[in-house]
Amino acid sequence: MELRSLLQLAYVGATTILLKRKRPLVGSIILTDKCNLACKHCAVSNITSIIYPYAQIRAEMQGLYTEGVRILFFYGGEPFLWRNQGRTLRDLVIEAKQIGFLLVNVVTNGTLQVDLPEADLVMVSLDGGKEKHNAIRGETYDRILANIEQASKENVCLYMAINQINKGDIKAVCETAVRTKNVKAVSFNFHTPYPGTEQLKLSRADKQVCADKIAQLIDAGYPILNLKSALPYIVDNTFPTPCYQCVVVENGGKWVCGRCIGIEGLCAECGFFFAAEFSLLFKGNLKVTWDLLRTYLKYI
Ligand SMILES: C[S@@+](CC[C@H](N)C(=O)[O-])C[C@H]1O[C@@H](n2cnc3c(N)ncnc32)[C@H](O)[C@@H]1O
Ligand code: SF4
Ligand code: SF4
Repeated sequence: MELRSLLQLAYVGATTILLKRKRPLVGSIILTDKCNLACKHCAVSNITSIIYPYAQIRAEMQGLYTEGVRILFFYGGEPFLWRNQGRTLRDLVIEAKQIGFLLVNVVTNGTLQVDLPEADLVMVSLDGGKEKHNAIRGETYDRILANIEQASKENVCLYMAINQINKGDIKAVCETAVRTKNVKAVSFNFHTPYPGTEQLKLSRADKQVCADKIAQLIDAGYPILNLKSALPYIVDNTFPTPCYQCVVVENGGKWVCGRCIGIEGLCAECGFFFAAEFSLLFKGNLKVTWDLLRTYLKYI
């Protein structure tokens, strides 16, 4: 991250904490729910399969920036499937930077393409070693790793959703990160049990074992883009929800924290680490704030 962007983010973050502001800082735009995969743990793909038009995405970007958002994520569905009026995901990332977003990230399944040098982070979902990943995501592991290695910039962060199938593969993904070209770090989530995916959820005891493993790997120096200080809150689901500084927009709709906010009871079982990490940060948790500064400076 450039020093100028870092200082700007630190200023916006500090005023949000000190003035107890609830305005959003982290925004996600869903470009489409269309997807080329059908992962076992996912409940959000191919519901409409609509690719949202460029004009709408552009207005959403401008709206979020005006509201105060400075960290932007492009999500799907599969965002690399997005195309409209001759524009691609890459054009959107470039425009987002021109608008003034300080960090622009993309979350992708990595099967179509990974190379996006203009993005700060390309979060590529990898759900285990080859066997467990393919059990969840179909035969995609080799293609994803080849795409990562062929990228032109070291801006990839592996993104693993830990569930009943792959809970034993946390270290394997960290080792893949270390040995794979272009990968900077790994980021984890626990499975969030959307209706229809409850069979994959982790018990509290499972989460504790996984959190202990993640903490041990952080201590051992593996490149992990999560905060050790937030893990106890994630295991016990005691972080404040929703995270008012996070916002998601899709096709004219807007949700604080996540689209999942409308699903009754889901926040109490939330496995999204960002929700815990950002809500604790913006509540002024000093340990989390220090941990975030140290961790983000290392990997972004
Ligand atoms: C919905 S996908 C969209 C982007 C892209 N298609 C991908 O797979 O990375 C974004 C992330 O959400 C994760 N995810 C999907 N369902 C989840 C669930 N029930 N709990 C936690 N994470 C989930 C995926 O593994 C992926 O890393
Ligand atoms: S690739 Fe992403 S959006 Fe598609 S089914 Fe898998 S998790 Fe869902
Ligand atoms: S806390 Fe936020 S991300 Fe987690 S389930 Fe609730 S709305 Fe979704």
